[in-house]
Amino acid sequence: MNANPEVLKQHLIDPEICIRCNTCEETCPVDAITHNDDNYVVDASKCNFCMACISPCPTGSIDNWRTVLKPKAYSIDEQFTWDELPAEQELDGAPLLAAALEPIDATDAADDEEALELDASHLADPLSGSQVPPWSASHPYVNLYGHKAPVKATVAGNFRVTALGTDSDTHHVVLDFGTVPFPVLEGQSIGILPPGVDAKGRPHHARQYSIASPRDGERPGYNNLSLTVKRVTSDHDGNPVRGVASNYVCDLRKGDEVRVIGPFGTSFLMPNHPDSNLIMVCTGTGSAPMRAMTERRRRRIDLDEGGRLMLFFGARSQKELPYFGPLMNLPKEFIDINFAFSRDDGRPDGAPKRYVQHLMRERGDDVAALLRDDDTYLYVCGLKGMEAGVLEALEAVCAERSIDWRALHAQMKREGRLHFETY
Ligand code: A2P
Repeated sequence: MNANPEVLKQHLIDPEICIRCNTCEETCPVDAITHNDDNYVVDASKCNFCMACISPCPTGSIDNWRTVLKPKAYSIDEQFTWDELPAEQELDGAPLLAAALEPIDATDAADDEEALELDASHLADPLSGSQVPPWSASHPYVNLYGHKAPVKATVAGNFRVTALGTDSDTHHVVLDFGTVPFPVLEGQSIGILPPGVDAKGRPHHARQYSIASPRDGERPGYNNLSLTVKRVTSDHDGNPVRGVASNYVCDLRKGDEVRVIGPFGTSFLMPNHPDSNLIMVCTGTGSAPMRAMTERRRRRIDLDEGGRLMLFFGARSQKELPYFGPLMNLPKEFIDINFAFSRDDGRPDGAPKRYVQHLMRERGDDVAALLRDDDTYLYVCGLKGMEAGVLEALEAVCAERSIDWRALHAQMKREGRLHFETY
């Protein structure tokens, strides 16, 4: 806390490291974080230092602070223009930090603590999922390569994984790192720096993609990984746009060099211990981490480690579902697959769409049986709207079977057993 009431330890986001993934803005319980086309910024008049945004940030760019005089706090408009964080300021020749760290008397400290408690007390935990990994997850490496020193990967393959002639042009892209260390785990992501500059002449920001291959490589024993990338051709309102990074990645050819940063992600990780069950819920390219985890388990099938896999996968149609063919080839006793097709299941006009959350309710008995097992880990990845739908489905599944979802939800979050990555 600040000793000097005129001094503020201002919360800022480093624009050089931020990958604009929106996680902080979604997480902030008081809407202190906002963004424009360039930067994500923190409104000093709203931020109450609750720290809810710190751990979900995949890059650590959120954890930056500058000591300023309160009236001179950086405005959000100022922050929108930054390419890098400003240097720490000085006050009358003395660094502001020293002013902020003057000894605090006991009364002040008690007041501050109370203020902090009061600030945090009205905040229900804003996050639906865990901020910690499963207890048996492997330790992830993160931020090995940043914007200033990205690693160069070579494209080893690029092919379409949705049927031709559909709107969903989704690609499976394999990147090889040669002899450069780039250790990853299932559930982690990387950033890709598209070449060129934006309309303002600034280098494009990195775009984050989930890794679709297991830790030992897309090709086992090779230093490579795969991504699942959908070509963006329209914005959220359906207006035509050409997504800079997705089109760049989908058009890559074998042998091309790509600038990569990362890896990112410390909690959306899979358990390693025998008999752990995975419930995986995804839509579209949200299937990437599910493919990684499933493939990890498939490669170890002969070890007979136990544990059930249950997958709920939503797409507009079978033809637009990435990896449909390979998924159908997996043995039924290895994985319980449930597809939700929203646009082509022959339902009558006007009938409600079929989404993953509807299927979860239909399979409620089996979902509940897994939820009753303390060794079950649940992962959700894909469209943002799915998050609320899945939570409602879980609540309903539990309510219909006399399971206390409120308590179970809290327990699963605490135990690193409930993970969301939605966008
Ligand atoms: P929809 O037919 O309503 O678009 P996309 O192809 O855009 O990546 O979407 C993948 C699937 O997710 C589609 O079937 C889409 O259905 C579905 N979807 C859209 N909104 C939601 C939601 N709120 N919850 C679950 N699934 C959704």
